[in-house]
Amino acid sequence: MKVIIAKDYEEMSDKAFDVMAEVVKNNPKAVLGLATGSTPVGLYKRMIQDHEKNGTSYKNVSTVNLDEYAGLDYSSDQSYVYFMRTNLFDHIDIDLKNTNIENGKAADRAAECERYNKLLETMKQDIQVLGIGSNGHIAFNEPGTPFGSVTHIVDLTESTIKDNSRMFRNVDEVPRQAFTMGLKNIMNAKKILILANGANKARAVYGLVRGDVTEAVPASVLQLHPDCTLVCDEAAAALIK
Ligand code: F6R
Repeated sequence: MKVIIAKDYEEMSDKAFDVMAEVVKNNPKAVLGLATGSTPVGLYKRMIQDHEKNGTSYKNVSTVNLDEYAGLDYSSDQSYVYFMRTNLFDHIDIDLKNTNIENGKAADRAAECERYNKLLETMKQDIQVLGIGSNGHIAFNEPGTPFGSVTHIVDLTESTIKDNSRMFRNVDEVPRQAFTMGLKNIMNAKKILILANGANKARAVYGLVRGDVTEAVPASVLQLHPDCTLVCDEAAAALIK
């Protein structure tokens, strides 16, 4: 795993942008695997600025997102599809038809997982952006998720519900279930770019880089990926330096 330690969030986002820009420049038809959460917002801001300033085009790019809360869709401003629109898609020239995310409102959740898995088989990510949970989760693959997992419905853990409640009015509003790509779908990406900032991620980053490869720390599976780059700030890197 390549590890880049940046001094702070802004520098982490700059370095993440460099990796992303290279992929899009080399392949205007790239498939971008994208994540939500606070970590990649700085990366998305830089993609928007670069599009506005340098005209980098996303017209022929397509995207697949990691996950979505079960029960939410674009009509909810807490949904991940809403997040992607407001933080990135509405500000670049991407065709929304080329953007993909699980349908949180699907009536048949198992069928929706199957649909998404089939789609992913036809859309290998040229790059997959990831954040990391304080418990080592990636996407919504919580500790104990099999490395061979594909898109599935998960019951969110108390720790994730608590972490994510900051985005909601109160903790009771956080959905208890979500759709998520599985670890196998993530590992299928040609390149992985995982980002982490803040002291509350230091233990998870240790598990990602230095810990045993174990399903108890889902992110540790990335040690087995042939092209994985971690960009983190000093605080998140505290235990690996
Ligand atoms: C988001 C996702 C999650 C987050 C993780 C970190 O699509 O899949 O795994 O990447 O929970 O969240 P933040 O960035 O908010 O600390």
